[in-house]
Amino acid sequence: MKSHIQSLLAQAIELLKQQEVIPTDFEARIQVDRTKDKTHGDFATNLAMMLTKVARKKPTEVAQLIIESLPEDSQVSKVEIAGPGFINFFIDDNALASQLTLALKDDHLGISLPKAQTIVVDYSAPNLAKEMHVGHLRTTTIGDSMVHALEFLGHKVIRQNHVGDWGTQFGMLLAYMEELRAQNGEQAQLALSDLETFYRAAKVRFDESEEFATRARKLVVELQSGNEYYNKLWREFNDISLSHCHHVYQLLGVSLTREDVRGESAYNDDLAQVIQDLDAQGLLSESNGAKVVFQEEFKNKEGEPLPVILQKADGGYLYATSDMAAMRYRANVLKADRALYFVDLRQALHFQQVFALARKANFVDDNISLEHMGFGTINGDDGRPFKTRSGNVVKLVDLLTEANTRALELVRSKNPDMDEAELINIAKVIGISSVKYAELSKNRTSDYIFSFEQMLSFEGNTAPYLLYAYTRVTGIFKRASDVDLTDASILLEHDKEKELGTKLAQFGEVLSRMVAKGQPHALCGYLFELAGAFSSFYEACPVLAADTQEQKKSRLLLAKLTAKTLKKGFSLLGIDTLERM
Ligand code: ARG
Repeated sequence: MKSHIQSLLAQAIELLKQQEVIPTDFEARIQVDRTKDKTHGDFATNLAMMLTKVARKKPTEVAQLIIESLPEDSQVSKVEIAGPGFINFFIDDNALASQLTLALKDDHLGISLPKAQTIVVDYSAPNLAKEMHVGHLRTTTIGDSMVHALEFLGHKVIRQNHVGDWGTQFGMLLAYMEELRAQNGEQAQLALSDLETFYRAAKVRFDESEEFATRARKLVVELQSGNEYYNKLWREFNDISLSHCHHVYQLLGVSLTREDVRGESAYNDDLAQVIQDLDAQGLLSESNGAKVVFQEEFKNKEGEPLPVILQKADGGYLYATSDMAAMRYRANVLKADRALYFVDLRQALHFQQVFALARKANFVDDNISLEHMGFGTINGDDGRPFKTRSGNVVKLVDLLTEANTRALELVRSKNPDMDEAELINIAKVIGISSVKYAELSKNRTSDYIFSFEQMLSFEGNTAPYLLYAYTRVTGIFKRASDVDLTDASILLEHDKEKELGTKLAQFGEVLSRMVAKGQPHALCGYLFELAGAFSSFYEACPVLAADTQEQKKSRLLLAKLTAKTLKKGFSLLGIDTLERM
């Protein structure tokens, strides 16, 4: 509906250009927003105010001219000028009702699909030297919900799991792996089942023995220059580490597969070329033996230039070097229109620098939009990064196990008579979805405090509240299974029916906001409001005891569309629904 209003306004502008009220070469940005207050209609635009300068008229005069130039339209019941020159649009109830009836029949809930693009989504990307920890929750769940929403809107999405698999730590790990294997093969296998401990033990060896450290450094060189044996060992290590990751993805219900892994090492063969190409364009400088690029626009507080380091004095390449190669690959081989990076905000400067450099060096052209979708930190009660009681990082596997255990207690206390198998099933959905939803419902760029109590609460904008609300909606149909809805249609008579209908019609607008800005919390907030609108409707409008058969059917259809919208919304967030809980 919003895009419909926009197109009506675009037509009015065309007409005003023909009449030379506004210059023909003027590019008007037509912004249309939902109104907060229903007495101002359903949509409003500030377009008239934007045009006063070029039209050389008062805003209210321009608004009047726009209104006179709008084409006749059956979906708009009234248009009026408000305040200093806003134009308010009132949507016709029948038009809204038929939009909703259409949504019921359509897989895409009647939303208008945008022009399809190719979109690379870089997310999760753990460092394979260690196990996934709580910090990976944000990139992994936000990235995955974005992928679902983009695909639903018809885009071609290419997932890229840019894992850290090529740093100097790998020399240390391989040296330790080799050492353990030489002593006792089985022991080595066992040690690798807990990467966190394995990493720490390797680090202890590295710090205590000069000889070990030298060997570790040598192994990095061996590895990067293609030594067969060490590459085989490295692949074995990565394979184990990746299977840990994929175990977590499976627990979390995340759609990443092994095919989506394209780590830093994948760009190894292009790194020398990256340096050469930057050099050929005169962009490289030397700084203490390292190869770096200084860019005018990046300076520190003291005004000193901040370099991007691309090759260390010892010849080793860095994180930024693989990102340069990766951007080129994404733009030229994958032919992406957008490349989205779901990475911690602490890397904001890194991305600003490499994006700017990629443009300068013509690694990518203007057609690709490079977007760092940064996120804040997950903190503990003390407001500092979330840690275990003993001060270690919280492994994601452990966190999910605890969520499931807590959910099981919760569900059991609410349903003491339910059989164990069903309890466990329900608890799994509630546990995982609570963790995911807590994450997704927060503003991406803010820090937040991790709290099992809050996320497992049945009150407020939480997964348990919404999943429960969903079972209440679907519960209605169980009691109305004999009603034939084939020829039924939606009627919007009661205020609460109109409010629910208006909310339902906003699904598409919310999705486009979510994918444009990388904000799943927009969808979460919407689903929460939708659940609220449904409860108010349900309180005010009897469904099974409605006055007439038409009314009953219409209300059942509203409930049906609510259930369909909630379910679709949840699935885009990567959350399963329950029929009972
Ligand atoms: N592995 C990196 C980290 O753990 C994240 C990689 C993000 N993607 C990228 N193209 N740099 O911080």
